[in-house]
Amino acid sequence: MATSVTGTAMARGAVIRLAESPEAMAEAAASEVLAVLEAAMAWRGEAHVALAGGRTPAALYGALAMRPFDGWSHVHVWFGDERAVNPDHADSNYRMAKDTLLSAVAIPDAHVHRWEGELAPATAAERYEAALRTLAARQERAAPTFDLLLLGMGADAHTASLFPGSPLLEAPAIEPGVVEAFAAAVHVPAMNSWRLTITPATIRAARIAFVLVTGEDKHPALRHVLGESRQLADAPASLLHQLQGDVAWYVDRAALFGTAP
Ligand code: 6PG
Repeated sequence: MATSVTGTAMARGAVIRLAESPEAMAEAAASEVLAVLEAAMAWRGEAHVALAGGRTPAALYGALAMRPFDGWSHVHVWFGDERAVNPDHADSNYRMAKDTLLSAVAIPDAHVHRWEGELAPATAAERYEAALRTLAARQERAAPTFDLLLLGMGADAHTASLFPGSPLLEAPAIEPGVVEAFAAAVHVPAMNSWRLTITPATIRAARIAFVLVTGEDKHPALRHVLGESRQLADAPASLLHQLQGDVAWYVDRAALFGTAP
């Protein structure tokens, strides 16, 4: 893998945006997120972005909230996954995004498409599926197509709530009339909890994906995914190699090299 200190490198078709720290990564990613949103609005009149959950994106969302950007009213916000909890729960990805970004910018409430984690997981997944199908129909596309998909990656190489061994990672039987799902409720044995997640079909359809990975603990998984792995079963983040669109990995030195600065 050729990696330059200046911050951009190519590895297996992936663009690596290297930053010196998580804070520097957030600032670099914020500029690119706004550029993608502006391009989508210029070309299609609106922008659809799916937010990542977990802890890493909070710094990016805070940086976005501080940037002068008058296009938020044309942006639709979706979520790559959610925990099966109330929207005001400390574990809610929606709550994290609301606290760091959504409450600070002028996005119409109707443009914030959250998973209804307060409902039964299967019901929440059905309702998100319906919302995604409505989006796909409006876009006149076979799958809901995010202009920008933000994702994180766990130390076990999971992404969204697609964990190693998930049945959602198995290639669906392509049968006539069987339509692949875009949203799902999954029970995660390792966490003994339910999660709500977009499916591989929705991830693959994204125009652009930014994967946000910082911290030394992520190095083995990042090296595995960017280096050798294309096996989804043990490294779900390898799905990003199957994207039809462009992928940029926003990483810090600790994640890329395994050593803190
Ligand atoms: C979630 C995320 C999940 C996250 C990774 C990394 O709901 O937790 O969608 O996929 O991106 O677990 O999480 P951290 O950023 O907290 O390390």
